[in-house]
Amino acid sequence: MTTNPTLAGTSLQHLLYMAQIVEARDPYTAGHLWRVARFSRLLGARLGLRGADLFQLTLGAYLHDLGKVTVPDQVLNKKGRLESGEILQMQAHSLAGYRMLVRYELSQDIAVLARDHHEHWDGCGYPYRLDSTSIALGARIIGLCDAFDAMTSNRPYRDGMPLAQALERVREARALQFDPAMVDAFLALDAEPLLHVIGHSDLNRPLLACPYCGPVVEMPPDEQSATFCRVCTGKFHVRRNRTGKVWLEDFDTVHGDPVDMIAEPDMGHLSDLFAGERPAGL
Ligand SMILES: [Fe+2]
Repeated sequence: MTTNPTLAGTSLQHLLYMAQIVEARDPYTAGHLWRVARFSRLLGARLGLRGADLFQLTLGAYLHDLGKVTVPDQVLNKKGRLESGEILQMQAHSLAGYRMLVRYELSQDIAVLARDHHEHWDGCGYPYRLDSTSIALGARIIGLCDAFDAMTSNRPYRDGMPLAQALERVREARALQFDPAMVDAFLALDAEPLLHVIGHSDLNRPLLACPYCGPVVEMPPDEQSATFCRVCTGKFHVRRNRTGKVWLEDFDTVHGDPVDMIAEPDMGHLSDLFAGERPAGL
């Protein structure tokens, strides 16, 4: 496990590791936590957050879905529509995340961000149907960034939206799902940094399609290493040509074994997210 000196020495690193393991349970959302944290950082900085406040927001964004560890596999990975009981099981993840995080020696505010990231400005969210500024500022930021990532990410049944279309959806939800001030700030962001995050699992690491079955596969931190599809267990090499185009090439239909499928924590890739801003007490 790569260590990150900014994060070492507390339960923080273990929580981030756990968040990565939880994320790996859903092969279609590879890199979601990194992207939501990255988008949240961009939006938070645009809104004037700095230093420890920005660190806390980024951390809350990275941990926002930790409670998904409590969602059964058949619900988390269901391809079709969820039944009403399954929707409730899925929605319980935000409160589950709160209950897990509140036990750690972190600011209580971070647990609140996990609890409230699905609340909506108009009061139609969950778990408590909070509205407007009764929702923590960070949860309003993370909620928008979480939804934006869902819009722009590929799913088994549809491709991600182009940037312009997703921004239009964000605009349409102004003062409904999202805080109007958050929407205005998000729409004022430059396109380029957003495009470096959409469809990536780290800076310069685009998600790649599995050549066998289609869902996203993360590039390994070291391009010489093999990478695996978590759906069909296919084993692949990363290939890159002189123009920077990246793709996956198979090992003559070799598959990984269960040990290869164990999610490998990658703390090194969090360095630029959390560099140098850790507040006292965290
Ligand atoms: Fe969530």
